[in-house]
Amino acid sequence: MTDKTGENTPHPSPRASGPLPAGRVRLQKIIAGTGLASRRKAEVLIASGRVTVNGKVVTELGTKVDPDRVHIKVDGKHLSSTQPYVYLLLNKPKNVMSTLNDPGGRPTVKDFLRGISVRVFPVGRLDFDSEGLMLLTNHGNLAQTLLHPRYHVPKTYLIKVKQVVTDEHIRQLEQGVLLEDGMTSPAIVKKVKKARQNSWLEITIREGRQHQVKRMLEAVGHPVLKLTRIKMGPLSLGDLESGEFRYLTDREANALRDLAEQKLASAEDIEQPAPRPKKRVSRAGWARSKKAKVV
Ligand code: URA
Repeated sequence: MTDKTGENTPHPSPRASGPLPAGRVRLQKIIAGTGLASRRKAEVLIASGRVTVNGKVVTELGTKVDPDRVHIKVDGKHLSSTQPYVYLLLNKPKNVMSTLNDPGGRPTVKDFLRGISVRVFPVGRLDFDSEGLMLLTNHGNLAQTLLHPRYHVPKTYLIKVKQVVTDEHIRQLEQGVLLEDGMTSPAIVKKVKKARQNSWLEITIREGRQHQVKRMLEAVGHPVLKLTRIKMGPLSLGDLESGEFRYLTDREANALRDLAEQKLASAEDIEQPAPRPKKRVSRAGWARSKKAKVV
């Protein structure tokens, strides 16, 4: 028996970020899952008659098919011949290289990707002694867009620094500080917690210069003692254990693809300085309690 899409032919399913749900799935979700386009763009492809299922053009957006049982083509090209994309989020531990190889024989992020046979590449770097969120993917174009300095993808770091950071120093970080390679763009700085000898801040920057956060804090006299990346664009580290990785959810992978598409589409707009935080954290707002939530 075949239905209106002639659904009866077994076919390997495209894999996105982990296995696709079994059974019938919306066409736009299947297309987006291969990384060919965001969900929205996939809908445009469908509506404009560029998608066929078992040879028939399908323009109805709600159409559901079983990806294991149909042949889907976009612009005449088989969906399964499009490379399936894999997106992983790793919590890089301290004292691990953020590269795939280290000539010096130190541990690398590759050592933590047990069971992953696809060649994925780190999107950006973290210092050897930094930890936290690392995205790894085989989706080269997306990685390039996210990494391009022009596109300013925000990255948030939780840092522990020496001494209690003064409001004046926070203001300097927010306005931009002079480093040897020029002024930094404005950062968003949030006080998290302070102790007698140290303080914890969350700092969001949109540039990706080498050791940038450490150099910024050094410039205002507060060397960084610990640095954890907790956010990158739409991704959050959450409670992923150090050394563990997970696949991005469909929602996260779509959000990343949407972000990359937006960045490409509005390149001129995003040349403007980064927006200032809407709501300012009170200067007197240090959390004093030992129970202050750090992440
Ligand atoms: N900034 C730094 O100084 N180090 C990192 O690892 C990331 C951002």
